[in-house]
Amino acid sequence: MPEQLNNVALVGATGNIGRKVLAALLEQNQHSITAITRATSKALFPPAVTVHRGDLKDPAFLRSSLAGQDILVSLVAHDALEDEAQFLEVAKQAGVKVFVPSDFGNPLSDQRFTGAIPSMKRKLEIALRAREAGIIMINVVTSFWIDLMLENDLLEYKFAQRQATLYTDSLAANVSTTNQVALAIARLLALPYSTICKHFEEESDLHISSFLVSQPDIFGMVLKATRTREQDWTIFRQRSEDLLSKGEAGILIDQNDVQAMVDLSLGLTYKYGGPGPVGKHNALLRLPREDLEVVIKQAVQVAESRH
Ligand SMILES: NC(=O)c1ccc[n+]([C@@H]2O[C@H](COP(=O)([O-])OP(=O)(O)OC[C@H]3O[C@@H](n4cnc5c(N)ncnc54)[C@H](OP(=O)(O)O)[C@@H]3O)[C@@H](O)[C@H]2O)c1
Repeated sequence: MPEQLNNVALVGATGNIGRKVLAALLEQNQHSITAITRATSKALFPPAVTVHRGDLKDPAFLRSSLAGQDILVSLVAHDALEDEAQFLEVAKQAGVKVFVPSDFGNPLSDQRFTGAIPSMKRKLEIALRAREAGIIMINVVTSFWIDLMLENDLLEYKFAQRQATLYTDSLAANVSTTNQVALAIARLLALPYSTICKHFEEESDLHISSFLVSQPDIFGMVLKATRTREQDWTIFRQRSEDLLSKGEAGILIDQNDVQAMVDLSLGLTYKYGGPGPVGKHNALLRLPREDLEVVIKQAVQVAESRH
């Protein structure tokens, strides 16, 4: 088995995180990169990238796209997560050695997450199938992408209305930046195959972190970035159980409801903290330290420019 895995296929390389992962891999310049993209996608790719356009639900298309690939990284949107079971089946036939699934965030090793969140339940089944097939599946545990979530008003702060919901019992939560997530994935893929096997043959979760931070600390930085005081905001105070119940009710109505999934993930994280072991693999991937105040200031600027 060669020590370095050279051929990487990316599905969803045109998305929020996909664009950044592709840029980080190109910058690292250690892999031959193939992008597998939907026929309807109008995205353009740099000349260094081999592009396969087609139907992600078509096994024959996937088979021809994955021939000769060592690694498959799925960066697909929430709506396409159900296709990942088929990605794994075809990857198995194609001899892919490492599979990194999408839906970055929560750990597979924590039953509180896999038991409550349908996409995590499905991912756990895929992880078991990958193990049976001898494919190393690595679940990148990032928790919340603080920049993207703030920019899109997906956390507890509504910038236009100056409204915030604070969870009075919340424990410190892990958050990552999209730049850190992309760098982590690029560096992971460049590790020698023996190192990948050593760390992830038995345990699928890879834990990275930009910051472990409490909600009051984030809100303090939001106030600073918006040059406002608490009295300028309408503040709702709730408990993490309230958020969990809201998420559970949403999932009962629609298993694929993204907001319900966010509520559940955030509710579980605030209730139990972490999820741990936070940042366990930062050193393995030589991830740099970042500045949370700068990250929040930039994200708030983006969010405010959208209103
Ligand atoms: N931890 C967090 O805080 C956090 C935050 C946001 C997202 N996420 C997760 O990370 C993953 C990627 O998120 P993202 O925001 O980067 O995704 P995105 O930008 O919405 O979509 C990524 C790509 O998925 C591909 N795709 C394939 N089938 C699709 C379909 N049916 N509908 C829409 N796009 C489809 C598209 O690529 P082509 O057009 O090239 O085919 C698209 O560019 C998701 O699974 C999401 O759940 C996690």
